[in-house]
Amino acid sequence: MKTKKTDLKFLARDLPPEDLEIVKSEGYFLFDSKGKKYVDFLMGWCVGNIGWGNKEIKKKISQYKGPDYVRPEYLYKSWVELAELLAKITPGKLQKSFRATGGTEAVEIALQAAMSHTKRYKFISIEGSYHGHSIGAMSVGSSDFRGWYKNLLPDCHKIKAPLDGKAADQIEELLKQSDIAALIMEPIICSLGVEIPTKEFMSRIQFLCRKYGTLLIMDEVATGFGRTGKLFASEHFGIEPDIMCLAKSITGGYGGLGATITTEEVAKSMEFDFSFYSTYGWYPLSTEAAIVNIKYIMKHKKQLEKNTNEMSKFFVERLSQMKFKFPAKIRAKGLAIGVEFDQLGYANKIVAKAQKNGVLFSQLNNKIFVLFPALNIDRKTVAKGLDILEKCL
Ligand SMILES: Cc1ncc(COP(=O)(O)O)c(C=O)c1O
Repeated sequence: MKTKKTDLKFLARDLPPEDLEIVKSEGYFLFDSKGKKYVDFLMGWCVGNIGWGNKEIKKKISQYKGPDYVRPEYLYKSWVELAELLAKITPGKLQKSFRATGGTEAVEIALQAAMSHTKRYKFISIEGSYHGHSIGAMSVGSSDFRGWYKNLLPDCHKIKAPLDGKAADQIEELLKQSDIAALIMEPIICSLGVEIPTKEFMSRIQFLCRKYGTLLIMDEVATGFGRTGKLFASEHFGIEPDIMCLAKSITGGYGGLGATITTEEVAKSMEFDFSFYSTYGWYPLSTEAAIVNIKYIMKHKKQLEKNTNEMSKFFVERLSQMKFKFPAKIRAKGLAIGVEFDQLGYANKIVAKAQKNGVLFSQLNNKIFVLFPALNIDRKTVAKGLDILEKCL
């Protein structure tokens, strides 16, 4: 394959690319260079929440007539529109947005804002989770990163799942020292194969963080914009974070953009302290894509939520009936779905075989497979993809 040969020569990657050259996306399907059609149960890992090739959105983006580029220091109407929109739809007192290029930068800004606001430099996060690939984001991610990079931020405490009353007790012990800047986590942890915290855990950490002056950062880069059956996964728990990180499905795949939305007070502490600058943060065309995409999601919110919850039930029902070789733990919140096995390597085999047979999803840590289908996917396509998956077992 010519593309693969050239890729291997010129692209830096951790692993060689998969033998899958994508040339087209449409609805809930991807097409490879040989013309083969795949059911997409991954949507770029929570990027294409409303399916690929949405005509309404593509048309509006193609009609964009604004400036090619705007310096971050200048005024630009669409930035104001997007920021106001985010303030309106996010929970609690979240109001001011920092302009980022993607999820990693959104997390990086959140960590800096927490340090700036609290004048503290330690963090709590969830063991094994993923928040991006910068030094800061890796510091609050899985401890495995420390094997390769010895000098990540030293003071990051990792709490192990399950996230229940016991885990909240551990967090309370740490918070009592009054030196933790922030607790950062995904409200439903997609990067752990859809780990779902208990309601008790979430309401206690909200209470405890406030009590000890620690900020609560919800990383909704993967869970945002309807993935778990609510617009934001924080809503399942009624929590009001001080900072929220957004990216991925904020544009639905029609542009690269991230946002860190904070309360007025947190944003204020960045004003004369660290501040943040990103040349391509909220690039005009990406901003346009985000506005059009979010408006589409808000207009169809009820239908999307209904379909997400119905299809979630259908996935769980079908997956529970499948005859896996080893006992499977199935976890789902909306259309964030994880299937975990104790047997290492089994999930990978299923993913590889399914890909060969025309359905795409991903594995995690050699023991989990995850599915993040589009929120408006139809029952027929779900059944088709799951039939293929079942035949691969
Ligand atoms: C929860 C979470 N946070 C942050 C990131 C980093 O986002 P990006 O790849 O846009 O930098 C990811 C990416 O997968 C993610 O899943």
